[in-house]
Amino acid sequence: MENLCEIDYINKKMAKELDKIYSVVSNVFKNDVSSGESLCPCMPSLKGRLAIDTTPKYWSDIRKEDFSIHLKNGHFWQTQCRARQHLAIIIPFRDRESHLKIFLNHIHPILQRQLHNYGIYVVEQANNDEFNRGALINIGYLEAIKDHSDYSCVIFHDVDMLPEDDRNLYNCLDHPKHLTVLINKSNYRLYYRTYFGGAGAIKSDVFEEINGMSNSFYGWGGEDDDLYNRLKSHGYKILRSSKVSRYTMLNHTEADAAPSRFNLLRMGTRRSKYDGLNSLRYKLLSTKRDKLYTKFRVTFKKSNIRRTIRYKRKSQKKNKPQKAKTFK
Ligand code: BGC
Repeated sequence: MENLCEIDYINKKMAKELDKIYSVVSNVFKNDVSSGESLCPCMPSLKGRLAIDTTPKYWSDIRKEDFSIHLKNGHFWQTQCRARQHLAIIIPFRDRESHLKIFLNHIHPILQRQLHNYGIYVVEQANNDEFNRGALINIGYLEAIKDHSDYSCVIFHDVDMLPEDDRNLYNCLDHPKHLTVLINKSNYRLYYRTYFGGAGAIKSDVFEEINGMSNSFYGWGGEDDDLYNRLKSHGYKILRSSKVSRYTMLNHTEADAAPSRFNLLRMGTRRSKYDGLNSLRYKLLSTKRDKLYTKFRVTFKKSNIRRTIRYKRKSQKKNKPQKAKTFK
C-alpha cells in the first residue's frame, strides 16, 4: 500500500484517484487500519508555494506557534490519521543557532501538513576539527533509532535550506530522493547531474545497506558526492521531482573547500564497506530535549576514525558486520 504513494505530487489527478482507491481498499482490509484510524491520504491538503520568512526569531515565540502544541522533544505523532512513514530528520550542526530557529519555525508546519510522524534531531559537533557532515549524519541516525526503533525513513537536512513549496514531499520511496534540487543560490538550477547535497530522503534499510555515509570527509565538500556514489554502486537511482523542489538557502560564510576530498572520492566505493555506520567511534556528550528538537552534542576523534579505517582495511577478510562503538 505504501507504494501507492510513490508518485510525484504534481500528478495530482493520479494521486486523487489513488486516494479514492485506497480509501475503498482500506475499508475492505481492516487490518491496514490500526486502532480505528485510517491511513493518511497520499495527497494531503497542502498550500503549494510558501512565503519564506528569514527574519531572526526568538525561541519563546516559536514555542508559542500552533505547530508547537503537540510537539514533544521535537517529535510529532499524527493524530488525524495513521501516518504512512516515520521520519527521522537529521540536521548536522555547529554554530548556526539563528538558522536553526528559522529552519524549525519553517519546517515543522510543513511536516505536519504532510501528515507524517517525525522526529527532528540536531547533531552538534563539539570537537574543534573541521566540520564532518557525514559522521554527524551517521551519529544522528544511530542515536535516532535508539530513540525510536521504528524510523522507516532518514532525512538528512542542512539547517540553512528552506523549502519554498510544501508539495515537495518529505517521504522515502524505494529509491533515494533528492529534495534540494533547485536552490535560489544556483538560480534554481541543479548544480550538476550527480549533486546529492542539501537534503535527501533514504529508507532506513537502504541507509544501513550502504553503511551510511563516509566518516572520512572533514571540511567542506565531497561527502554528498560520496553518498551519491555509494547509492549508485548499490544499484539505486536518485529520484528528483524538480518542479516543486525549490529552496531558499540562508546566507552564511562559506567554508574553504577541503582539497582531500578528491582522493577520498576516488576510493570511495571501495572504502564504503568499512567506512560508515560500522566504523563510527564517537562520544555522546549530552542529549538536550527541547520541545522543538532533540539535540545530541557529540565528539569524535579524527585519528580514531582514520585508524579504524586502516584496521578494517587489514581485516577486510572478516566480512562480519561490525556495530558502531562509542569511545570513553
Ligand atoms: C562538492 C559538494 C557540494 C557541491 C555543491 C561540490 O564540488 O563536492 O560537496 O555539495 O559542490 O556546492
